[in-house]
Amino acid sequence: MSENNSDKAKVRKTVPAIRSAKRSNGNDPLVMVTGYDYPAAQILDRAGVDIILVGDSLSNVVLGNKSTTDVSMDDMVHHVKAVANAQTIALVVADLPWLSFHLNPENSILNAAALVKAGATAVKLEGGKKRSDHIKAIIDAEIPVMGHIGLTPQSVNVFGGFKVQGKTESQAEALINDAIDLEKAGCFSIVLEAVPRNLAKTITDTIKIPTIGIGAGPDCDGQVIVFHDLLGFYPDKGAKFVRRYLDFADLATEAINRFIGDVKSGNYPNDEESYH
Ligand code: KIV
Repeated sequence: MSENNSDKAKVRKTVPAIRSAKRSNGNDPLVMVTGYDYPAAQILDRAGVDIILVGDSLSNVVLGNKSTTDVSMDDMVHHVKAVANAQTIALVVADLPWLSFHLNPENSILNAAALVKAGATAVKLEGGKKRSDHIKAIIDAEIPVMGHIGLTPQSVNVFGGFKVQGKTESQAEALINDAIDLEKAGCFSIVLEAVPRNLAKTITDTIKIPTIGIGAGPDCDGQVIVFHDLLGFYPDKGAKFVRRYLDFADLATEAINRFIGDVKSGNYPNDEESYH
């Protein structure tokens, strides 16, 4: 980014502003990072991200579950409230968890509305053409929707693992058609997860709404990454596309070790840290 993030005008990001942020129109790439609580939202906002995604990756990285499908609507609402309390400049988008947008459009609208009432401005949901009716219904209820195609983790059992999607010609064509369908359904942007770089570029060049990539190469209109991957909360680096900017787990362990040492040795608290 050319601009110093701290100098950014304090105007809340809007859905129309994100919708029109194609790089082909001369815009900077969009930056989206997941955030699941109040302090993380404050840090992300101070740094100047465009979008905070309360992702269903909450399930794995915060709640310690094995799968994103283990997270509930109640869990999502709880964490969206915490992020919304930070009153960020960044747009807050919340994931609809597995089975919250699969039954009937009325049920999908009510679940999307619960996330908006908790403080999100828009929702994200996984899937292409087969979710169009639900997407249209949610948008008809005045709730903006971000799409998500490619390696959609909620479908991992159908895919048979976390595999790059769109590698064959027919899969690639299906993903391009999905992206076109999502745009037609009214999505304001689309996450492309784990697809070959060339396919991500083709999709980005084909549709007029921004693509936000994760493991989809540098030609998307923006990039998204999980907060805990970016900051190194876990020893395992994770997927190929993850670039770590901090080894938080090591730094935090070392700091807590120093605290333990100070308490055990009688060095904490000292007289200045005591009330008189
Ligand atoms: O839940 C999540 O973290 C996501 C991102 C990987 C896009 O959906």
